[in-house]
Amino acid sequence: MATLISPSLLACDFANIQRDVEMLNSSAADWLHIDIMDGVFVPNISFGFPVMEAMNKHAKKPLDVHLMIVNPDQYIETFVKAGAKIITVHYEACPHLHRTIQHIKSFGIMAGVALNPHTPVHLLEDVIEELDLVLIMSVNPGFGGQKFIPNAIKKVADTKKLIELKNSKALIEVDGGVNSENASLLVKAGADALVAGSFVFNSANPSETIANLKRS
Ligand code: DX5
Ligand code: ZN
Repeated sequence: MATLISPSLLACDFANIQRDVEMLNSSAADWLHIDIMDGVFVPNISFGFPVMEAMNKHAKKPLDVHLMIVNPDQYIETFVKAGAKIITVHYEACPHLHRTIQHIKSFGIMAGVALNPHTPVHLLEDVIEELDLVLIMSVNPGFGGQKFIPNAIKKVADTKKLIELKNSKALIEVDGGVNSENASLLVKAGADALVAGSFVFNSANPSETIANLKRS
């Protein structure tokens, strides 16, 4: 299977959202990554429902929503209504993670769990069979354009082992500082999907950058 690419709209030009979403529609991108930050779970605020709905209005690909927020449960239904096809919550933000996953899945969409760089993969061993996606953070969440943390490669391999051991169908996605240098190492370690924000949008030809990442 070719690597799934989920460009992060956090790095798009917010004054030209329609233009950038249409560029992604006609590119080799598989999903559109939507970063929601609440200024509480992470030290930054990104955007909320009106902006996500504007993105969804033009998007022809599934919205891959990454919730960097506390109490995600209270907003899941609203995110589904705003167009989410994948919702990923943070392990560190969910005291009742199993319930939160079931809640996401009750809407017939994919449920993911993200792990911060310090959170070990084995903490997912009792819930991995329920998951559609594991999101390995390769930066501390909160900002685009940060430097890739190489330990993420080992965490991808650990996740792959756990998925095989438990016969889970979960996909592995990696988020933060992804570029042409680390992409193939991540795929070799077991990554199925790569998020890329600044590497795509700061490149001279974003569409070509996406196509190249897909060949990783
Ligand atoms: C970081 C976000 C990422 C970010 C990736 O908190 O979750 O999705 O937009 O951006 P780059 O690829 O620039 O690190
Ligand atoms: Zn993200």
